[in-house]
Amino acid sequence: MTTANTARFNEEALSWDSNPSVQLATTLAHKAYLAHLPPPAILSTYDILDLGCGTGLLSLALAPSVRSVTAVDAAEGMIVALRSKLEHPPTPKTPPTNIHPIHALLTSPSDPLLALDPVTHTTRPNRRFDLVVSHLVLHHIPDLAAFFTTIHGCLRAGGGRVMVTDFEDFGPAARKFHPESKMDGVERHGIDRGMIRAVMEGVGFAGVRVERAFEMEKAVETEPGSGVLGPVVVFPFLICEGTKV
Ligand SMILES: C[S@@+](CC[C@H](N)C(=O)[O-])C[C@H]1O[C@@H](n2cnc3c(N)ncnc32)[C@H](O)[C@@H]1O
Repeated sequence: MTTANTARFNEEALSWDSNPSVQLATTLAHKAYLAHLPPPAILSTYDILDLGCGTGLLSLALAPSVRSVTAVDAAEGMIVALRSKLEHPPTPKTPPTNIHPIHALLTSPSDPLLALDPVTHTTRPNRRFDLVVSHLVLHHIPDLAAFFTTIHGCLRAGGGRVMVTDFEDFGPAARKFHPESKMDGVERHGIDRGMIRAVMEGVGFAGVRVERAFEMEKAVETEPGSGVLGPVVVFPFLICEGTKV
């Protein structure tokens, strides 16, 4: 299925990693995730799912801390870019071997594509995850209840956790996060705290916490549609957590 979203992200995949805002957002999000996750001895046992992984910036950052990363994106170009980084790492350093990239618009937790264990290379139907992460994706999702229902289904019962980060809807200025030329596939200008809490609790998550994770400075258009970046706006980011009981 190709949507406006996937067309845009296929186009942007090759230049994605050269955008300093994207790199900075991932660095800050990675730090926030580690601050909210359990200590290394526990985290190193986790099988995680990165939903909307893009070129795998967060997957690659988290991979050394966890057992495995299943990295899913709806845009094939993004997954091609991630596979290329894994097969031909830009530096002489050895790439992680515990990441499995998948091109899919995930709608079912029982999708056979998720069955492969990236470590043992064996398949287990209805494989479930200890943690689902998703960074800078929620504002592109038309139906958040459906998205979180899928996430809930992908987690192991009795403690599986979701942890997602995205910029907050802090008022009209939140619209400036994207230049006007990149509004295709933007479903909302940031995440409203009350709305996301209601969605997560509505699909069955327990212990839902929605809090400020970090702030990020980003240059925005001088005028809407000018295409020229100038003024810097500070964008707050949320981390939204919940547990599957
Ligand atoms: C703004 S990008 C963020 C990519 C990456 N997380 C990062 O921070 O670099 C949003 C990504 O989510 C993907 N996406 C949007 N909806 C999706 C869905 N339902 N399932 C999987 N990926 C999705 C898009 O293809 C795109 O690559």
